[in-house]
Amino acid sequence: MSYNKNELNKNADIIAGLEGIAKQAVNDYLVDPQQCWQPTDFLPDMTKDDALEQVAQLRKRTDAIPPEVITSLVGNMITEEALPNYQSFFNLLKGVNTDGNMASENGWVQWSRTWTAEENRHGDLLNKYLYLSGRADMKEVEITIHNLIRNGFDAKAEQDPYQAMIYTSFQERATKIAHVNTGKLADKAGDDVLSRICKTIAGDEARHEKAYKHFMSKIFETDPNGALLAFETMMKKQITMPALLMDNAKEHSLFTRFSMITEKMGIYTTFDYANIIHHLTEQWKIAQLTGLKDYAAKAQEYLCTLADRYRRIAERVKVQPAVIPVWVNG
Ligand SMILES: [Fe+2]
Ligand SMILES: [Fe+2]
Repeated sequence: MSYNKNELNKNADIIAGLEGIAKQAVNDYLVDPQQCWQPTDFLPDMTKDDALEQVAQLRKRTDAIPPEVITSLVGNMITEEALPNYQSFFNLLKGVNTDGNMASENGWVQWSRTWTAEENRHGDLLNKYLYLSGRADMKEVEITIHNLIRNGFDAKAEQDPYQAMIYTSFQERATKIAHVNTGKLADKAGDDVLSRICKTIAGDEARHEKAYKHFMSKIFETDPNGALLAFETMMKKQITMPALLMDNAKEHSLFTRFSMITEKMGIYTTFDYANIIHHLTEQWKIAQLTGLKDYAAKAQEYLCTLADRYRRIAERVKVQPAVIPVWVNG
């Protein structure tokens, strides 16, 4: 069975009916701005007399970071900086912002605002840190961000809230992994502050991942057949990185080089892709679902062997030995 208008309308109705869980999740998974960490907690205090000394220390710490790690860090930052794309994406889903009002008290709209407000700190912090380090060609970075927001973002969810929740569960986990691994490499290169920054951002992504998985669990409880169909449909299209459209995505484009470097450095790899699929199928207990309609049983069969298929692909991935880092200064 493939998607049709009826399927999409049914999913929209169910999501609209789950508005209460989104409202609850704002309290359960997100942090009050007064209690939340802010970028300045990790940056030189420019109000102090020794501000420039603090900047000099920052630059000393970042001196030995390999160019490939700087490229990965910049790519992560650019992804975060394209935040307008993600807030628009979420509010355009069917059944989410039904009154078309960004100030709405509807649970899903509140969730979208509170989630993106937290996300906004990630790009701010990484951008300022990289700027002060002098290690990145910031003009090129800014042009890439400019282009990415201009070009937009297509999760291929086709406004289906079920597919979007699957996409976001996957992506929050993927970005968590990328930040954690970048942090480890920063630590190895002698920058313990940057390592702490990456770990802290990863902590936010971990909370967001939990929330999206929780939303999807509720969908599986309410409509297992529809949820399975959405999971299968999304995975067949494959989960693309949110920053795919940072340029024209041709061979040796910025995005391809960034992806080749994260694969080579072990920051985000095809094995991670396989492992995330495995994690999500376990999380939503896909193999244990019973009493399914035929099309959903077929989707279940497809999903249960999918992680292994990607693991076999991952074993065959050839790591490019020499990829020229991008956005690096000098
Ligand atoms: Fe983020
Ligand atoms: Fe995130």
